[in-house]
Amino acid sequence: MIPLHPKDQEYFDCYPAPIMQMLQENHFTNINSTITFFGPMLYFMVRAFLCQKVLEIGTAEGYTSFYLSSAVKANAIRNNYSNAMFYGLDICQTKKTSDNLTALGLPNEIMTLDSIELDKETFKDIQFDFIFQDGAHDKEHVLHEFKVLWPQLRGNGLGYFVMHDVMGPSADGYALVNGYVKQEGIKLQNVILDDGIYGLAILRKMEDYSERRYPY
Ligand SMILES: C[S@@+](CC[C@H](N)C(=O)[O-])C[C@H]1O[C@@H](n2cnc3c(N)ncnc32)[C@H](O)[C@@H]1O
Repeated sequence: MIPLHPKDQEYFDCYPAPIMQMLQENHFTNINSTITFFGPMLYFMVRAFLCQKVLEIGTAEGYTSFYLSSAVKANAIRNNYSNAMFYGLDICQTKKTSDNLTALGLPNEIMTLDSIELDKETFKDIQFDFIFQDGAHDKEHVLHEFKVLWPQLRGNGLGYFVMHDVMGPSADGYALVNGYVKQEGIKLQNVILDDGIYGLAILRKMEDYSERRYPY
């Protein structure tokens, strides 16, 4: 068990929350206050959707990376995936975050990159089940990341593009993405989870959708 970060201890002393505390006792960062509850939620989404290949844009100190990578590892063990991986990118502090994940035995490949440099060669031949977008929040980056990575997302209702801050700093980018989706006739299901401040949009790729039953 990793000792609770002093800031988290102070928080739990004021506002007891045993389940969150239990999670944080295993984490190497303190709680990221911009994505406190969506962080653990990402873990359960990746588990529920049985994802193997997960990408995070904007890994920062690793608050959400820990949950995403933990879910990839647990899915691999539970479902005998031999090729599961958590991929990440950021413009800075990638080595520290990667080292922290690796020290906990969590799979990761995190690259240092300005996401505006992303192109179809960056993750050549990789098909993602789940992409979490939480990097630069300006509209150019948000739209560029979507345009490059959407084709690499699994279809048939099995791929998810999850965008953070769509009610906050990424609102303009989210609007541009919606315009692009309309213009290109992209088939998806889209919902915003409203936490009253940042917002999380979940875009489910519905191209080539056919009825199917669990397990996929
Ligand atoms: C809001 S933080 C991510 C928080 C992280 N997902 C978490 O919850 O712990 C945004 C991150 O995006 C990174 N970033 C900013 N501009 C970027 C760019 N152009 N390309 C890639 N990453 C960028 C920042 O360095 C920062 O680490």
